[in-house]
Amino acid sequence: MSVLKVEKLCKKIRKKDILKDVSFEMNEGDILAFIGPNGAGKTTTIKCILGLQRISSGQVFINGYDIKKNFVHAIEKVGALVEEPDVYFYLSGLENLKMQARMYPHVVMDDISRIVELVGLEDRIHDKVSKYSLGMRQRLGIAIALLHSPNLLLLDEPTNGLDPEGIKDLRVLLKRLAKSGVAILISSHNLSELETFCNRVLIIAKGEILEESSIEEIKNMDENKYIVKVDNSNDCKPYLKDSDQIIDSHFIEVIRDEEEIAVFIRCLVMHDISLYEVKKESMSLEEAFMKRSGGDVDDSLDEK
Ligand SMILES: Nc1ncnc2c1ncn2[C@@H]1O[C@H](COP(=O)(O)OP(=O)(O)OP(=O)(O)O)[C@@H](O)[C@H]1O
Ligand SMILES: [Mg+2]
Repeated sequence: MSVLKVEKLCKKIRKKDILKDVSFEMNEGDILAFIGPNGAGKTTTIKCILGLQRISSGQVFINGYDIKKNFVHAIEKVGALVEEPDVYFYLSGLENLKMQARMYPHVVMDDISRIVELVGLEDRIHDKVSKYSLGMRQRLGIAIALLHSPNLLLLDEPTNGLDPEGIKDLRVLLKRLAKSGVAILISSHNLSELETFCNRVLIIAKGEILEESSIEEIKNMDENKYIVKVDNSNDCKPYLKDSDQIIDSHFIEVIRDEEEIAVFIRCLVMHDISLYEVKKESMSLEEAFMKRSGGDVDDSLDEK
């Protein structure tokens, strides 16, 4: 079922186009990685969906409700963490949660305890937030976003300040939530960081969506990378394509599909080239995207 539908969303600030025809859709259980460089428009998109910024044109539907026409119903089942979590430093984590929970009469102490455990803050929940690390504050922010059992969770760079352990915990938490049907949008400027989190990827640059695909779609590209170890790389030169690369005197990197790699190996053997090893490298999401977009991901994503 469609949880979020963004249609031709445009945002102008002082005549400058910040978002241009941004469209995408999220279904129950989706974990969508929203990727783009600094200034691409990730936070602005999220703020427009949340009604924190006015939309210049276009439409946003949450659980079927148009946010312009029926904001209260649209926002009812949305949880969000945008930039730094909005918490009181002089209160404990638990006091913050209890205070926020007052907005939702149906949320009881048991729910709060369950969420504290879910985000892994049970040991520190009685400490003042001023004593928390950034990662702990992020966890508390996510706990607050989860208080009213949302079915759409919008997380703007939640991995900021998390250590590898924290990122792993977040992944487990988000996967668990997605399994229960929550649709999760998670933004980052680091594609490789989110690759294990999500089932879909949405790439934005300069306010425009460049790419929307499933993870498998990007990863299952017809070409595969192989690292080949030979006696002398230079001997292979005549049989290499432009896209192949000599790494050093013993290793070469070739992009071939399964049939082609067999032909390539036969060709080397036929030409008396000693072959020691052929290893298939699985492409990271970042590499796959680079290949697909036909450019360098850093170039295309980093320029403003
Ligand atoms: N209030 C504002 N006034 C003018 N320009 C703005 C305003 N808010 C955002 N912008 C511009 O809109 C563009 C998109 O910003 P946004 O914060 O959405 O990017 P982002 O993808 O979240 O970047 P980051 O990775 O740095 O968080 C930027 O060029 C930014 O300068
Ligand atoms: Mg941002």
